[in-house]
Amino acid sequence: MAMGNNMKIELTDWLRVKEAFRSKHLRQAGYTEGAIVMADTLLDLHGLEHRERRRLENRLFRREIFSFWEHQILGKTIAATMQPFVDKGSGDLAQIGYRCAMNLTATIAGIDQDPRDEVQTELMYSKVKKFSEGATIMHSTRDKDAVRSEVKEAMSSFFRDFYVPSKTRRKDLLSDLKNETISEEELPKDVLTTLLRNAEVLELDDEIVFREICFYLQAGAHSTANSFTHTVDDLFTWGDKNPKDLDLARENLSFVQRCMHESLRLSPASPVALRTPLEDVQLSDGTLLPQGSHVILNLVEANRDPSIFGHSADLFDPHRIVPDGVARWGMSFGAGSHACVGAELDGGLEIDTSRPSEEALYGTVSVMVHAFLSAGGRKDEMNPPKLDENSERKHFSQYPVVFAVGNDGSSRKA
Ligand code: HEM
Repeated sequence: MAMGNNMKIELTDWLRVKEAFRSKHLRQAGYTEGAIVMADTLLDLHGLEHRERRRLENRLFRREIFSFWEHQILGKTIAATMQPFVDKGSGDLAQIGYRCAMNLTATIAGIDQDPRDEVQTELMYSKVKKFSEGATIMHSTRDKDAVRSEVKEAMSSFFRDFYVPSKTRRKDLLSDLKNETISEEELPKDVLTTLLRNAEVLELDDEIVFREICFYLQAGAHSTANSFTHTVDDLFTWGDKNPKDLDLARENLSFVQRCMHESLRLSPASPVALRTPLEDVQLSDGTLLPQGSHVILNLVEANRDPSIFGHSADLFDPHRIVPDGVARWGMSFGAGSHACVGAELDGGLEIDTSRPSEEALYGTVSVMVHAFLSAGGRKDEMNPPKLDENSERKHFSQYPVVFAVGNDGSSRKA
């Protein structure tokens, strides 16, 4: 047996990353230090425990629920969140994105939140940003104890101000269901309700349920907001040379989805996934991943593998043709047992031109981008976006946008 405790192995090509994602002997390794938020959450479980929790939570992440969500919830929440920016005629793209993403993720996680309340949305987002900092503490360059104590503080104020009222309301509804004073249909369709209802069967204690909700909020909000900003930016850049496509995106949700998938391939919200082999693993090409080594699955590189996406793999092209069996978004939603539960919720169904349009689901991010563009959202030409100089990746420190006024002088509504 090879012992690889300090050995780092980075996989960058499509086939090896895919195979590593699917190996049962590779354990999640990205969140050990972030235990304050991540201990016992779905993403950090392994084997049977993971399968059982995933089976339970999958009950919520079903196509009928996505359809209900896309047709009944999304539009209203996005319109309420975006309206203050449209009324003002301007805003920051990233702020618009994270506010929408925060309110939408709160709904799916099961935290009650009025999307019209800008102050509460900002407050919740400030807590959830801290949870993300806690989850990814292994990459932090700050004093880790200081980060931990800020995360603890954020978790306890979130518990008091947001979690307890939402949990109490759901517990009351579950008692009403038991007493047959409400029907199944009247229960909220969210993660917290699903967990509270099944906590005994899975022996989930109160702390685990609480951390699972904190984890969902940060996993959903950050990646949705990130994907929104990148899709809009890629579309604006593409639109400079292909203005008809930008006009098409303002009208056509299906085309926006194509752009979103392509943008997600180039800018995955989590650029790497980390794993450690529980025993020596040999990949099909002979690569040895020794027990205990640190395996880095580089999604940015794998998603640009020219043997899969051709010589133009680095370029944004929404009209790209991808090989059969390869998702347009590459591996940005992961693969194997930990593949993202929110993939269809955020990315919609894979594009299939033979599917009747009434059965299509376009996903949260595309609906957000389309709402922004159809409200007249465009770059503020007087104030170009600025890249965050402290980040190696393409992150914007500011991205001013304006909402254009229609030809008749009326402002467009989100
Ligand atoms: C564009 C949006 C999103 C992207 C790019 C994304 C990406 C990912 C990736 C790469 C993983 C796997 C990580 C690993 O294997 O180490 C993952 C897992 C997960 N994601 Fe997402 N995600 C997105 C949206 C969401 C949303 C909206 C939710 C929930 C509301 C969500 C919930 C989760 C959960 C619970 C897991 C863990 C699954 C498991 O361990 O079985 N994600 N996501």
